[in-house]
Amino acid sequence: MSTHIGAQEGAIAQTVLLPGDPLRARYIAETFLEHAVLYNEVRGMYGYTGHYGNQRISVQGTGMGVPSISIYAHELLADYGARTLIRVGSCGAMQEHIRIRDLILAMSCSTDSAVNRGRFGAADYAPTADFALLHGAYRSAQERGYPVHVGNILTSDVFYNDDAESMKRLTAHGTLAVEMESAALYTLAARFKARALAILTVSDHLVSGEQTTAEERQTSFNQMIELALDTALAENINTPA
Ligand code: HPA
Repeated sequence: MSTHIGAQEGAIAQTVLLPGDPLRARYIAETFLEHAVLYNEVRGMYGYTGHYGNQRISVQGTGMGVPSISIYAHELLADYGARTLIRVGSCGAMQEHIRIRDLILAMSCSTDSAVNRGRFGAADYAPTADFALLHGAYRSAQERGYPVHVGNILTSDVFYNDDAESMKRLTAHGTLAVEMESAALYTLAARFKARALAILTVSDHLVSGEQTTAEERQTSFNQMIELALDTALAENINTPA
């Protein structure tokens, strides 16, 4: 048991997929994992452990935003020995050339969150993906023929953002997309000498205003989970970070 996860010791795999929505955790467990067992329902933040191929994999909902994912990532790393955390989430595209439903691999995260400012004082820390995971996910996307972009994203504390000017400047500096969790995930993984990657699907477009239908979201969500599971299965990720 940890403060927010009611699992027994050993009930959570070393590799954990992290959707924001706990109902997505249930969907992933029921659709993609074999013999999935529910290990947490505290606050309705479902967590399951099952098998994919010969690999034991867990999937844990994180909720939305830096504080919520920080709680779950910290407890997975500190209390349950998780070593590989793969966020599977959605994002808003910030570049014209990116299409709705495309996949984005977050190589690094800019952030407006105050959490890392507090943690690093005067330094601007650059939360960064694990290279082996990033490389594995990119290769899998290419092999499967899925449209994928790799680069810097923005992890924001704000969904309804009034500050259009700072978003424009980030776009001018190549930021691919905005979401609300990955900078915290990468920072905590680094702190615990573990590996992390965020794989995102584009659910809405901040430049064109386009949005996905529920059906499109489901198709691209499944593609993202396939990439995450390919990545989790790749042999090189279970060597020490
Ligand atoms: N902003 C922040 N997070 C998001 C968005 C967005 O536009 N779309 C999906 N997650």
